[in-house]
Amino acid sequence: MSDKYPDDSGRRRFVKGVVGGATLAGVGATTAAAVNSATMSSGSGGGTTQAMAIENTDGPAPRGMPQIPIEIDSEGYLKGVWPEVKTIEENGVQVQIAETENYNGSGVTYSSEWFQYCGVESYGGLDPEYESDNYFISGGAPGYSWQSEAYSEGDRLHVDDFSDYQTWSNDIGDPGLGKPATGRWRSEDAENVIPIQVIRSERIQEMAQDDPWVQASTQEGFVAWLNKCTHFCCVPGYKQTASSATFGAENRVYCQCHQSVYNPFSLVETLFVARPRPSE
Ligand code: FES
Repeated sequence: MSDKYPDDSGRRRFVKGVVGGATLAGVGATTAAAVNSATMSSGSGGGTTQAMAIENTDGPAPRGMPQIPIEIDSEGYLKGVWPEVKTIEENGVQVQIAETENYNGSGVTYSSEWFQYCGVESYGGLDPEYESDNYFISGGAPGYSWQSEAYSEGDRLHVDDFSDYQTWSNDIGDPGLGKPATGRWRSEDAENVIPIQVIRSERIQEMAQDDPWVQASTQEGFVAWLNKCTHFCCVPGYKQTASSATFGAENRVYCQCHQSVYNPFSLVETLFVARPRPSE
């Protein structure tokens, strides 16, 4: 977009930005990928965007939090799907975007622009070509005792650890609504971690039976979203705060900062103006 630098300068800037990460990780492949895309602008996208989201039902948040379509690998580990990486021309400059049209036959265009708000647009993981295996990774303080017992920081979330999802309870709200976990996504060696939340629920399985989008974007009752409140960017939680009951949110996703409430069992279209990724 605003990248008017000649190719040489763009190459220097881009490689410089990536070498540090590659050195830390000790992965040579990262540098190779950087050189391949060196002549392209790293800034792009933004503008009016239609995203699928868990519905905002109360509080000052302007809209729902964007979903991350789920995939389960052959060994049972949970992944967030990243859209297809493509090169397009924007204002005469080649830029890379991540976008899948008609995602899994749902008719929905799934784009990385869904996540371009609250500064996330500048996170390393939002670069279309960021090197990630896309697994959902458990953090150091997940906020659920079951998760702290089952996982160490850096572990991948696995289907088997959610097998009691039809009965799970933590004394907040009703039991059996669904079993949650928190984690991060596309954040290997990154300065800024992309926070996510996942729930496995029978409700999602039921919804998937007659809704093409739910069918396309969830697996075995798992639904996931980018866990950044669309109000002022706090990290909300499902059944994480007993005080959520005061605001009728004990069975919902609740943001402690200013009491916004989201319903993870209602997946809706939202329209917003996505921020462009910065050009460096
Ligand atoms: S309600 Fe304000 S940041 Fe979430």
